[in-house]
Amino acid sequence: MTKITVLPHPDVCPEGMVIENVPVGESICRVLLDNHVELEHACELSCACTTCHVVVKAGFNSLEAASDSEEDLLDRAWGLSTTSRLACQAKIGSADLTIEIPRYTINHAKESH
Ligand code: FES
Repeated sequence: MTKITVLPHPDVCPEGMVIENVPVGESICRVLLDNHVELEHACELSCACTTCHVVVKAGFNSLEAASDSEEDLLDRAWGLSTTSRLACQAKIGSADLTIEIPRYTINHAKESH
């Protein structure tokens, strides 16, 4: 069991959140959704969109490495960072995580820029 700290995001999680007792091996996206953090997930967690993009601020190295298909998709994500992951693909490891949800998804970026 581990812990995920979600940094505040104005729409999705305005106050930020700490989620305790997170099971190892679960995807970050599933845990956030189960805890009412409505992270976008346009392809229903099937590694086909990038709307679930998160930046892992702490604990990145505890996650299993991204697959080639995840890496390819991430290249299209808004606000890509060296510790970006697709939350539906990143399985929780043994370390506590701190997650930042980017201000925009690729869907927002298309609408407003
Ligand atoms: S929900 Fe589409 S890639 Fe994660």
